Amino acid sequence: MSFLDIEGHDRTDLEATLDLADEFIEVLRRPIPRVPALQGKTIAHIFYEASTRTRLSFERAAKALSADVMNFAPSGSSVSKGESLKDTVLTLRAMGPDLMVVRHGAAGAPHRVAAWTGLPVINAGDGAHQHPTQALADSLTIRTRFGKLDGLRVGIIGDIRHSRVARSNVAAFTALGAEVVLVAPRTLLPVSSAEWPVTMSESLDEIIEDLDVVYLLRIQVERGGACVFPSLTEYVSRFGLTSRRFSAMNPEAVVMHPGPMNRGIEIADSIADDERALVLDQVSNGVAVRMAVLFRLLGGDRNG
Ligand code: CP
Repeated sequence: MSFLDIEGHDRTDLEATLDLADEFIEVLRRPIPRVPALQGKTIAHIFYEASTRTRLSFERAAKALSADVMNFAPSGSSVSKGESLKDTVLTLRAMGPDLMVVRHGAAGAPHRVAAWTGLPVINAGDGAHQHPTQALADSLTIRTRFGKLDGLRVGIIGDIRHSRVARSNVAAFTALGAEVVLVAPRTLLPVSSAEWPVTMSESLDEIIEDLDVVYLLRIQVERGGACVFPSLTEYVSRFGLTSRRFSAMNPEAVVMHPGPMNRGIEIADSIADDERALVLDQVSNGVAVRMAVLFRLLGGDRNG
């Protein structure tokens, strides 16, 4: 079994993973934050795209479960000699890992890796398609803060069209009972909302007072996101979380961002460091949810 997207998982299944992640948060707070649950297992981390949070939190999660890790990046590898993705992952499989964690710039690449290798694969982000463990980290962060997602109003603001985080988060948040509104210039909204269980808005000012969670996304320059609006100055004036807009938020509402942040563009510098910005909680919770996903896929020993 693999973990490739959120859509294949119902509410009960998502909540079971979040509940297990809560248990692993307790493990991570111990003086020796390690359990022998996946002793003897080997996890291959295969990252064809840059990553700080996802790659290192998977490594931290694997080691906290006592698994061994193999780390692959194309730089310095035989990819520079023309080796294909298929030959690369078959080569790595021949070294005996039990599971592969894959990030790739092409949508669907982790699905292909699962088919080629026959191994369980976790999608660590594929193109503009899915980033399911980010959605779990974000869901756990909201659930920890508010106790539940039911009835909450979450605004996802920014480059939604090119965002794998937005796709996975819409699926997770709505499955867990939240209402989602997407906010962006028309050119950064999905072409059609027919398949999305969301509402859409082109005015952050009209809705900001009603949001419980203000979830900001960066402009995905590497996927063409900066070419579709006139200027960054105009973007900030209409969609940036400025101090004025932060003041207009419900006092109980929180700010989230999957990182990396562009301070001064989608989020004002001072707000990024405010105690109502849960950005670093998202990172910490990312370790616990990745432990939970690894544990569930590799059939870890609960008693261990
Ligand atoms: N949120 C996220 O995926 O960050 P990284 O690209 O640093 O892994």
